[in-house]
Amino acid sequence: MDHFQYKDDALYAENVAVAEIASQFGTPCYVYSRATIERHWHAFNNAAGKHDHLICYAVKANSNLGVLSVMAKLGSGFDIVSGGELSRVLEAGGDPRKVVFSGVGKTEHEIELALRHQILCFNVESAPELERINKVAQKLDVQAPISIRVNPDVDAKTHPYISTGLKANKFGIPRESAIAIYKLAASFPNLEIKGMDCHIGSQLTDIEPFVDALDRLLLLIDELANSGIVISHLDVGGGLGVSYKDEQPPHPDKYVEALMTRMHSRPELKLIFEPGRAIMANAGILVTKVEFIKRGEEKNFAIVDAAMNDLIRPALYSAWMNIIPVSQTSSKTKALYDVVGPICETGDFLGKDRELVISPDDLLAVRSAGAYGFVMASNYNSRCRPAEIMVDKNQIHLVREREILKDLWKGEHKVT
Ligand code: LLP
Repeated sequence: MDHFQYKDDALYAENVAVAEIASQFGTPCYVYSRATIERHWHAFNNAAGKHDHLICYAVKANSNLGVLSVMAKLGSGFDIVSGGELSRVLEAGGDPRKVVFSGVGKTEHEIELALRHQILCFNVESAPELERINKVAQKLDVQAPISIRVNPDVDAKTHPYISTGLKANKFGIPRESAIAIYKLAASFPNLEIKGMDCHIGSQLTDIEPFVDALDRLLLLIDELANSGIVISHLDVGGGLGVSYKDEQPPHPDKYVEALMTRMHSRPELKLIFEPGRAIMANAGILVTKVEFIKRGEEKNFAIVDAAMNDLIRPALYSAWMNIIPVSQTSSKTKALYDVVGPICETGDFLGKDRELVISPDDLLAVRSAGAYGFVMASNYNSRCRPAEIMVDKNQIHLVREREILKDLWKGEHKVT
């Protein structure tokens, strides 16, 4: 459930009419709902119940300071993949001691920053990374908390670009070599072994692969204990999908409960979750205005003011995202449109063959755009990135100003 609903015929974000936001801040703009973010976060947190756990929101899904500050106020942890994301978390008031650091290519500088801020754990992906973290920790004369990302080799049955738990992916350590890597980690004087982690992919709509992965990891944890290495936490990653069209992913309750059935006998193991999309996707929309209607011989086009630079998921993954009117009217007749942006590429579309009742200047909303929306936006075609707005009941917060042209060439220099 989210808080974007029609009241009479007008789309609302919580208690605010979306059309009002568009008239105040212009289009295109992203609009987020605080109540929805909080609701989704609590769904994970409550489902884990009394078992020791931490929700580490995956910052990559949406790293706006407004969003991160809402998470920080909830007491959330964070899953980061760069020094930049760590700096955002700190800036937003997040607690670095609740931060896990994922990613295959951490630089020495990023590792040092994370160690100075005493993060909870590094999720390590290779032997050379262990060596690097040990070296930086030695320099700072500290112990670095680490977890090994194990690749459980389960098929997450999702889009190949966002499937990460198969042997063919660049992520994690194969199960077969995991024990050896843990032994290697134990031999480094400045590493402290804390946990095991995995992340098998994103936009998963079945519980089964998650449970399979967990079972494989629990076996490995027992094997590890037999070799004298005892860990204190298990990080199951993120990946729970959302409904963009007709997918029926399990509710976060059901997903967490399914994992919990395996965890009751392991009270000593703290569980870490890294959800991104399941918290943020349906907590945001992208609002755009129809500029022109172009009737072609084979197709009608609704040319809107948002483009693939603002929201790249349809172009990049052929992702289907729902497009709805901001104001519903029944008086005009429906027609089929490709909803396209002004960028000079055929791949610049937000949706194809959509049945809509529209005229120029009408507003449309792309649903489920709160995750992997703005964060993947670019300035392609020298377009300013859109404004971001957070609604909180009847309050409107501008959480990111629309870029202006001068921002586009900041740091560039003419050649004389
Ligand atoms: N943890 C790790 C280590 C990850 O790599 C990811 C996402 C997450 C957690 C969060 O996964 P989520 O709960 O959001 O599924 N840009 C793509 C999604 C890429 C996801 C990458 N990793 C998209 O727009 O669909």
